[in-house]
Amino acid sequence: MSSVSSSVEGVEQKNFRFRCIACGEFSDAASQDFRCAICGDLLEITYPAWKEANPDAAELKSKWKNRRLSSTPADLSGVWRFRDVLPKLENENQVITLREGNTPLYELPQCARITGVTRLFAKHQGMNPTGSFKDAGMTVAATFARLAGFRWVACASTGNTSASMAAYAARGGLRGLVLVPEGKISWSKLSQALDYGAVTCQLRTDFDGCLRLLQELVKRAPVYQLNSINPFRLEGQKTLALELLEQLDWNPPEHIIVPGGNLGNSSAIGKALLEMRELGLISRLPKLSVIQAEGANALVRTLREAEGKRLISVSAETRATAIRIGNPASWKKAAHVLEATAGACEQVSEMEIAQAKAEIGAEGVGCEPASAVTLAGLKKLVKQGFVKADETVVLVLTGNLLKDPDFTIDFHRGEMFETQQANAGIEALRHPPIVLDASLDAVIRTLERFN
Ligand code: F0G
Repeated sequence: MSSVSSSVEGVEQKNFRFRCIACGEFSDAASQDFRCAICGDLLEITYPAWKEANPDAAELKSKWKNRRLSSTPADLSGVWRFRDVLPKLENENQVITLREGNTPLYELPQCARITGVTRLFAKHQGMNPTGSFKDAGMTVAATFARLAGFRWVACASTGNTSASMAAYAARGGLRGLVLVPEGKISWSKLSQALDYGAVTCQLRTDFDGCLRLLQELVKRAPVYQLNSINPFRLEGQKTLALELLEQLDWNPPEHIIVPGGNLGNSSAIGKALLEMRELGLISRLPKLSVIQAEGANALVRTLREAEGKRLISVSAETRATAIRIGNPASWKKAAHVLEATAGACEQVSEMEIAQAKAEIGAEGVGCEPASAVTLAGLKKLVKQGFVKADETVVLVLTGNLLKDPDFTIDFHRGEMFETQQANAGIEALRHPPIVLDASLDAVIRTLERFN
């Protein structure tokens, strides 16, 4: 098996090392499956000398701000703008970028009222180039894949990773291999992978089956795996938290709430928060909470029934297909950051997800179903007293509304839930399309009806 070194050609004297999250072993190279050569657990990227390299937090903050005035590709990227805390490149022109990051932070006043908190924001990662948070990680991991000399990159996906990987592979002149569960991802996401030219395989299994197969494949074939097991992905995704804190003038919110699927994103955000504190960029840690769908609640069960000591896998089922994952790869990393930031882990029902998604839509913001678990979860955390009314809360919206139109249309047409009673509970949020004769009278009558 060939290896992925932290001192590959094109990477100046490296500023990082790999560390195993379980046995703590350090290494300068990772095998293609990105697992520890000794114990087989996941690796993370660490920066042994970065405190010395970045001694002054105020200087870092102003450097990052000033880069916004520059028009080089690396500075226009909302990820590489923070390159001082990322694996170092010899030359910043080596980046494969689509101008990812730089995503908006929206205030959500109506959702705040519904949930009973005063300051509620959405960090909308669905506003990335391919419509999801995956782009922030992909720009880093694809760049390092190319530097390591790979021709092929590959991923298993519930849709967004594959869309993102296919795009960055195309931009970087790499070939992309996508493994997705047949019939279990949205057509929008699948269409992206096709359009960006990836070799797309719909496997007769679920996401967990696709990921298992990919892990075997990378041991046999010279393909570079771009799932979030790849620690370069998490380094890129980390910048979401840096950008968020910058948008809040470095005043940490009390809570950040994120959906949980394979648990890479929560791990990345948590890592960023801990590193920001270590570098003196923030003095207080927000609590990072993870919300899962009830039908894909492996982390919830792992923390409740096994105290986070061993993974309880589940057979996943939810219409929020992005997080239809039963055997999350990064569960240990996520459990660690939840503990370190004193965050919570909750689960929400299909009805709660659909309702929350419509409420976010009604703010003119919108998101895909998996992102809406954050608002649904917040409602629970407020009821439990874990989130207080006067605390500032940020929801991480991971995917764009346009990622899953079938879900939205079924909801508004009243075709999502089987019983009338269930649909009655969400009646006020539904805005079904109205078919009319093409007459002025009919349109005016409709206008009056809604007046
Ligand atoms: N939200 C969206 C929109 C996602 O696409 C995903 C994961 C998550 C949340 C969960 O993030 O896995 O880091 O905990 N999607 C992956 C994919 C698995 O293949 O697109 P996570």
